Amino acid sequence: MPEAPTPEASDAGTTAAPPRVLSGIQPTADSFHLGNYLGALRQWVAMQDTHEAFYCVVDLHAITVEHDPELLRRRTKVAAAQLFAMGIDPDRSAVFVQSHVPEHAELAWVLSCLTGFGEAGRMTQFKDKSSKQGTSGTSVGLFTYPILQAADILLYTPDPAAGRPLRVPVGEDQRQHLELTRTLAQRFNHRFGETFVLPDAHIPEGAAKITDLQEPGAKMSKSASSPQGILDVLEEPGPMRKKIMRAVTDTGSEVVYDEEKKAGVTNLLRIYSALEGTSIPDLEARYAGSGYGQFKKDLAQVVLDTFTPIRERTLKLLDDEDHLDRLLARGAERASEVAVRTMETVRERVGFVGRGR
Ligand code: AMP
Ligand code: TRP
Repeated sequence: MPEAPTPEASDAGTTAAPPRVLSGIQPTADSFHLGNYLGALRQWVAMQDTHEAFYCVVDLHAITVEHDPELLRRRTKVAAAQLFAMGIDPDRSAVFVQSHVPEHAELAWVLSCLTGFGEAGRMTQFKDKSSKQGTSGTSVGLFTYPILQAADILLYTPDPAAGRPLRVPVGEDQRQHLELTRTLAQRFNHRFGETFVLPDAHIPEGAAKITDLQEPGAKMSKSASSPQGILDVLEEPGPMRKKIMRAVTDTGSEVVYDEEKKAGVTNLLRIYSALEGTSIPDLEARYAGSGYGQFKKDLAQVVLDTFTPIRERTLKLLDDEDHLDRLLARGAERASEVAVRTMETVRERVGFVGRGR
């Protein structure tokens, strides 16, 4: 007997169409870091099992700040290689480079015409980044960055009539951009007719914010953290161990969770728990009375067990660039199929004249 269709299966009748997932990451570093991995990328890998997945390396976003062209090209490939190395399967998921699908920029333009100036000005990430660079060093592209992000997401909308959700796995710091995306989708639907499904942020609990190893009050971040504060996925085992052993801990010697008084140990406990899948109380019990040294030594091993295979696979993928390029071409082709269709609908709804043949 055929299985009863799930609520998401409504469009095609017989085959259940899974929900969609879309996410993006900037190619602005030589390696992803532990915050990226636990806050977002690990979810990307897991979600491809239950979703139709689109994952993009957002090079258009990367040029919102000054950049070096050769470095951008290199980092785009390294980023893509790491995604495959982490377990994103090119046979099931579309991994692609944003600039390979020009509809991203095109939809961003349309959405920017629906965004209020003040509304864009309230984005905290823009305020943070632009205050560091000053007005003359801040591009208009940085200002409209979240609108391009909204376009990235909404291009992959399922048909609103199909009842399929659209999910976006990101870290906590992206919540406001997701809210803007929902607002723009709603506004478009209201003005031009039901076109977009409102996306849901998919933010992991607990690991949503990993902090700097040297400054446990601040987020682990490629732009703000010192090299000693950040754990790179592609880090060599020796330096990786050292950084963990030298991570700032707190006065006292007990391994206990306390966000206020023991921010350093708390961050390490979160990392340990997220990587090993052990609860924090179980870890506290395991290390009761054993001090910080043993705890850090074991944590370093847990981190290396996760990252070493990823590092090795990444290096192997980067050894055969033609193969990597082919994987990305396949991803772009799949993404284009959806993006082109969405954009046709958008053009029609907005009132653009169709091009004659
Ligand atoms: P970024 O490196 O800022 O471009 O971020 C890429 C992705 O990683 C986004 O989804 C962020 O929310 C997530 N992310 C970045 N840093 C952290 C962190 N320290 N903790 C958790 N998630 C993070
Ligand atoms: N702004 C996101 C970040 O800094 C990157 C991003 C661009 C993104 N486009 C996206 C994330 C679409 C999710 C969906 O991490």
